[in-house]
Amino acid sequence: MATPLVTMHNISKSFPGVLANDRVNFELAAGEIHALLGENGSGKSTLMSILGGLYRPDQGRIYWQGNPVDLRSPRDAIRWGIGMVHQHFKLVETFTVTENIVLGDKRLPYFWRPASKERELAKLSARFGLDVDPQARIWQLSVGERQRVEIVKMLYRGCQVLILDEPTAVLTPQEANELFINLQHMKESGKSVVLITHKLDEVLAVADRVTILRAGRAVATRQRGSFSKEELAEAMVGRQLPPRPDRRRPVQDAVTLQLDNATAFGDAGQIALNNLSLQVHAGEILGIAGVAGNGQRELAEVVTGLRPLHKGTMYLAGENMTNRGVTALLNKGVSHVPEDRLGSGLVPNLDAVDNVLLRTYRHGTRPGLIDYRQARRQTEELVKAFSVQLASLGSPVKLLSGGNLQRLLLARELSAGPSLIVAVYPMRGLDIAAAEEVRRLLLRERDRGAAILLISEDLDDIFRLSDRIAVLSRGSLPVPPIAAQKANREEIGLLMMGHTEVATHG
Ligand SMILES: Nc1ncnc2c1ncn2[C@@H]1O[C@H](COP(=O)(O)OP(=O)(O)OP(=O)(O)O)[C@@H](O)[C@H]1O
Ligand SMILES: [Mg+2]
Repeated sequence: MATPLVTMHNISKSFPGVLANDRVNFELAAGEIHALLGENGSGKSTLMSILGGLYRPDQGRIYWQGNPVDLRSPRDAIRWGIGMVHQHFKLVETFTVTENIVLGDKRLPYFWRPASKERELAKLSARFGLDVDPQARIWQLSVGERQRVEIVKMLYRGCQVLILDEPTAVLTPQEANELFINLQHMKESGKSVVLITHKLDEVLAVADRVTILRAGRAVATRQRGSFSKEELAEAMVGRQLPPRPDRRRPVQDAVTLQLDNATAFGDAGQIALNNLSLQVHAGEILGIAGVAGNGQRELAEVVTGLRPLHKGTMYLAGENMTNRGVTALLNKGVSHVPEDRLGSGLVPNLDAVDNVLLRTYRHGTRPGLIDYRQARRQTEELVKAFSVQLASLGSPVKLLSGGNLQRLLLARELSAGPSLIVAVYPMRGLDIAAAEEVRRLLLRERDRGAAILLISEDLDDIFRLSDRIAVLSRGSLPVPPIAAQKANREEIGLLMMGHTEVATHG
């Protein structure tokens, strides 16, 4: 066989208290899309951060076309042609796309002409079908567009190898499809891609090979066509998955959340929620399907008190809570699992205990006094109950793997016995076993009597969990929520795409 483009040989890497990579072998051929699969905390991001020059392995070697290379920094890696796009993007919000891309480019003279660079970038992105406006400022861009900027940046630096860490976790299904078409173009032009993902369908659709990590070890590498979805899942988890939880009971009468004619503005001053009315009952999951950007974030923020209502009314268990603010809603038992875990969810530089305290100290018996011993005990229990893998309770939560961050957040938000849970893409970034656990937890909370507003673009989850289903399109619900038993996928899909003349039997 031809020499691989990249060989990672016998790589080990430990962090205080964890062996993140344990004698891993990994090969990447020229012109292949290689998926990297594994449960939360199995060492995927660590392994690729080593290839991206971010971490140094404790042991093992990396070879480029058979020759040993020493990657001491991301700059080194890029010099060899290896570029990584991280789970959390690293762009400067106030700079333009062009400025972000050429930032740190050593070849650039002190004075450079934006116009000629913009032309160069437009040409480069067109070649790979990556649609970005070189003059736009980052803050104006959607998540999908930002990701394209990161990719173009790596291509501009001449990267042969592109590492993408869970790129589709933040994308709409449409954006994800576009990304895969782009990746296909790159592959055809001889570039190699490492794709970290939890979504088995993506692996089946685009990967030429897949390597599976389990607890820091590479347990298998398989060729396209030689595995089924079930086999992948089993190889990853090392056991068979439990059967899916049962769902759906009759809806209770008590209304927990009621929005009447809610109108709210988005960050850019546009109307984000437009005269929207809905009710969520105690013991009910109302699934909100829809393409991201149709008011999902604003809806969650209004209900959790983070965004004011311009018009309309919000009631919680019958009490008018319109524009009463976050704290008042927290005290009423409103939980929030937000879209960006490290932005509005957790504070990256605080440790787990402080992050748990942030949410729970208000429920303390003596207001104003914080009992750290008690907080520590509580955090320990949560970490155990929700199987959060962390080296120590005292290390900043930004060191947790993506899935473990999500678990810690869910642990905090679900443990206080909330009356209303607003969950925005709660399964994002979770491996299949963890996602199943979260589904079970949400159903458990529902059965306890919590009202749940589940916002997701994953129709599988919407259909699996919801008692009733609504579609959010351009800031309102084109048709009233439909009982899940009567809802049909095609109709929901059409409503998501903005068709309103769909027959419903709601
Ligand atoms: N900088 C760090 N300091 C301490 N521990 C770390 C650090 N980075 C990762 N870890 C730990 O190493 C293990 C592997 O983490 P890694 O981020 O590689 O997992 P992952 O497979 O990418 O998981 P996920 O699917 O959740 O993103 C985890 O237990 C994680 O907590
Ligand atoms: Mg990761």
